[in-house]
Amino acid sequence: MVKFKKKSLSGSSKRWIQRHHNDDLVNKARKLGYRSRAIFKLEEINNKLQFLNKNKNILDLGAAPGSWSQYLSKQGFKNIVAVDVLEMNNVSNVKFILGDFTNEDIKKKIFREFKKIDIIISDIATNTTGNKKLDSFKTNSICLDVLDFATNNLGNDGYVLAKYFNGELDKDIIEFSRNNFSKNKIIKPKSSRKDSKEMYVFAQK
Ligand SMILES: C[S@@+](CC[C@H](N)C(=O)[O-])C[C@H]1O[C@@H](n2cnc3c(N)ncnc32)[C@H](O)[C@@H]1O
Repeated sequence: MVKFKKKSLSGSSKRWIQRHHNDDLVNKARKLGYRSRAIFKLEEINNKLQFLNKNKNILDLGAAPGSWSQYLSKQGFKNIVAVDVLEMNNVSNVKFILGDFTNEDIKKKIFREFKKIDIIISDIATNTTGNKKLDSFKTNSICLDVLDFATNNLGNDGYVLAKYFNGELDKDIIEFSRNNFSKNKIIKPKSSRKDSKEMYVFAQK
């Protein structure tokens, strides 16, 4: 009998499999009527942590093109505010604010929509420049802003879920979360590209 040596997959084969899996998620999202494969990350995290409750007020940051808002709307959420620097097509039950979340005027606009915020989900990622250090620094600075906003504005027992990248400021994000929230988790969803440095911090007030 001929014995074959077990060969581990080469980097390019692994990348091919990963891309293929990503394409599957892109196609699946399209078939289900979602605007982006990002939907599967929120769905996966919520299936695990069960933190989305349709009677709550929810703020969706970095919302465009809108799959997270679509998911919330389909789940029966009635009170959703979404913010993005890019335009987003309408989603039912979602009030969209166009602008930069870090801008104080945009924060004031958010408060005109809500008396109280129960849940904040942020998928904010700045445009990539090709410089990994700079990219993680820019996105992670905003993630810190989101966490700071959450500590000051979330209602009691409120939740925050925010994207960050492994890299610059990531330790500051984890430390800030541990120091300011009661429950903390760091999550890498299976539906997130394995070769991406994307992570999520989840915390409860
Ligand atoms: C990965 S996409 C979000 C995908 C979205 N969750 C979905 O399900 O379709 C990241 C978004 O963050 C937005 N963004 C980047 N910087 C921002 C900022 N300062 N304020 C608001 N949105 C921002 C980008 O315009 C982009 O649409």
